[in-house]
Amino acid sequence: MKKIQVYSLIVWALILCSCLTREQDVRIVKDFNFNWNFKLGAHPEAVKTTFDSSDWRTLNLPHDWSIEGAFSKDHPTKPEGGALPAGEGWYRKSFQISEEWKEKTIAIEFDGVYRNSEVWINGKHLGKRPNGYISFSYDLTPYLHYGTQENIITVKVDNSLQPNSRWYTGSGIYRKVQLVVTNKLHIAHWGTYITTPKITKELGEVAIEITLQNDTDTEKSIELVSLVYDENEQEVAKIITKKNINSKESVKANQTLEVKKPILWDTKNPYLYTVKTKVYEGATLVDNFENVLGFRSFNFDAEKGFSLNGVPTKIHGVCLHHDNGALGAVASYDAIKRKLRLMKEMGVNAIRVSHNPSSVELLDLCDKMGFIVQAEAFDVWKKKKVKADYHLDWDEWHKKDLQDFVKRDRNHPSVMMWSIGNEIREQFDSTGIAITKELVNIVKKLDQTRPVTSALTENIPEKNYIYQSGALDLLGFNYKHEDYTSFPEKFKGQKIIASESVSALETRGHYDHFDADEIKRWPPAHNQPFDGNDDFTVSAYDQVSAYWGATHEESWEAVKALDYIAGTFIWTGMDYLGEPIPYPYPARSSYFGIVDLAGFPKDVYYMYQSEWSDQEVLHIFPHWNWTKNQEVDVWAYYNHADEVELFLNGKSLGKKSKKGDDLHVSWKVKYEPGILKAISRKDGKVILEKEIHTAGKAAQINLTADKKEIHNNQYDLAYITVDVVDEKGVLVPNANHLIEFEISGGGEIVGVDNGYQANLSSFKASEIKAYNGKCLVIVQSNGKEENIVLKATSSIGISSNTIEIKVKK
Ligand code: GAL
Repeated sequence: MKKIQVYSLIVWALILCSCLTREQDVRIVKDFNFNWNFKLGAHPEAVKTTFDSSDWRTLNLPHDWSIEGAFSKDHPTKPEGGALPAGEGWYRKSFQISEEWKEKTIAIEFDGVYRNSEVWINGKHLGKRPNGYISFSYDLTPYLHYGTQENIITVKVDNSLQPNSRWYTGSGIYRKVQLVVTNKLHIAHWGTYITTPKITKELGEVAIEITLQNDTDTEKSIELVSLVYDENEQEVAKIITKKNINSKESVKANQTLEVKKPILWDTKNPYLYTVKTKVYEGATLVDNFENVLGFRSFNFDAEKGFSLNGVPTKIHGVCLHHDNGALGAVASYDAIKRKLRLMKEMGVNAIRVSHNPSSVELLDLCDKMGFIVQAEAFDVWKKKKVKADYHLDWDEWHKKDLQDFVKRDRNHPSVMMWSIGNEIREQFDSTGIAITKELVNIVKKLDQTRPVTSALTENIPEKNYIYQSGALDLLGFNYKHEDYTSFPEKFKGQKIIASESVSALETRGHYDHFDADEIKRWPPAHNQPFDGNDDFTVSAYDQVSAYWGATHEESWEAVKALDYIAGTFIWTGMDYLGEPIPYPYPARSSYFGIVDLAGFPKDVYYMYQSEWSDQEVLHIFPHWNWTKNQEVDVWAYYNHADEVELFLNGKSLGKKSKKGDDLHVSWKVKYEPGILKAISRKDGKVILEKEIHTAGKAAQINLTADKKEIHNNQYDLAYITVDVVDEKGVLVPNANHLIEFEISGGGEIVGVDNGYQANLSSFKASEIKAYNGKCLVIVQSNGKEENIVLKATSSIGISSNTIEIKVKK
């Protein structure tokens, strides 16, 4: 037998023996979110192990204390920051560590704490992290007690210096916390880096760089085994490498594998492989780590725009802030999944995570659901936008923050662009040149497989110093769509994306009738007054935008027409807390979303669906409850058809077809109650029909849950849509009655919302007024394995169906 065969036989025999070491025992990732004590205010004495926090509130993470507070225009966060309280809060948790773990390395990992966190273990200060969006970890090993003696971890969160953001941030440990227990010889934190240097039909090459850490007192010889599995858990590639590591040192090992006939990842079929990397010391498995892997190639071209796996693909993107509406900043998997599902159904294929490092959950979901991601590091550099923002931490922290951001996220196949900043002030002066070069350099040292971009506003080349640095791979431009046609000339040979666009304004279900082609800019220019509505609403016809922006149609028409614009990221996919332009308080959340804060689509959602998705679409609006003889604008979004005919109570009001680059058709209709009906046809053949009925008096409440069952894990959420309807089941479009919820069994109410931007009632109550016929209640499993029973009643004496959600283990 050849030497090499003998060798591999021995290795496989060793691997077989090592089955005795259970994989889950060598790297233990413990959920560390449960049973924390929490108290608002300053409690420096709580770092002492003798301190008694038993009278503090007990809660589970992730947690955002701002969202629990009451709105006030006097909060230092200001309405721009969501008009909710911030301040300081302390968390404390006591826990035991088994004697069996004496020889282990034990680290605590925080995904995100807003902001200025400091952590102590058993009275010992572990460190500070000002950036509220960055993930970080501390090694607890030297300070732990084992056995029955308690360990105390204390976290101070200081969000009192305000304002520190242009949008709502939340306050607290708002992302998950984990305890990671490994052997002293282990794969380092963020210690794997996976790329796919070559992808052909026949073969996908996988390159893995692994950083190994030897915290033991002796030199070690190890074997590294990496395996690739397909979605059916079939092994499709493996490699074995040997390595020596000195005591107390870390080394890098490189491996290359080949997967035959790789199935590609794309936005419609986001196929994921799994890479398992195992570390053996002799026959003993000492560590293992799993990553997802997607084979995809992409390219930005100065003339042809973006392509994915060689297929020209326009980026149909939206910008999203991190808050989850009524849940505040709490990074809930289910909440993020719902948000992304809404976007997917609209036809969105890309997300710009504006303007900060995201939750892990968001990127995991983008990998799984098939979104292209622009990951963004900063909204400010050295020059501030608001008084107490990140510029205060820039000098000390930007390098580490940027490195950590790339290291954590570079294995996600969904991530295809690194943005080093949004509308950065330094684009306007020569200091921008050196900083851009420095930041691009930091990113490139860690990842060269993705272009580095920045979202710029200044599109005169000589005046933009970030561009002048020559360091960007991809130019992002925000707004000013009318200038797009000048870009090939001004930015010769450059790759370009509309990194931010639109900033249109709408309130779901509210309609003002302007002239057919009238477009309003609210406010019309910088600091200009405007004639808005007394109830802080903005019409949901796509006719209003901020003065720096455009309506959805204006902007999309411009992007659609130009191949060299790789695509667009609409500001924003969903309403978010804070930045309530154009109104002052009590407005406290944004009007920019295509979907409102509660997750209910505004009408323009269907314009995008008609343009961006494969679905057949016919959407007509508004509702059909007006004053007799009033002239009402009726709009239709449609696709897959060449005309739409409108009927009122059976009488045709005429056929319309989109002209030129129009994206909707409209009629002026003299109102009479009854049934408004639209039929879309292609070559005379009916494609779709839609009816809108005049609603009668509110007679009933309809509850519809997005899930039939959830787990009793205290994480799972069910979103229940509440519709106020008449006796025939037609939505009552102006219903605004108070709805009260009654819940029992294995769930509790964790949020209520109605999507109205100036609603000041609490997101945490068990009642809320319907707004334009609808509201939402969010239920979370409370740990009991009992079915959840939910019912609603209203102040006007009507009640709902009772819904039951199964709760399983
Ligand atoms: C942009 C900015 C966004 C948001 C938006 C509102 O200029 O990048 O963060 O403020 O304006 O229109």
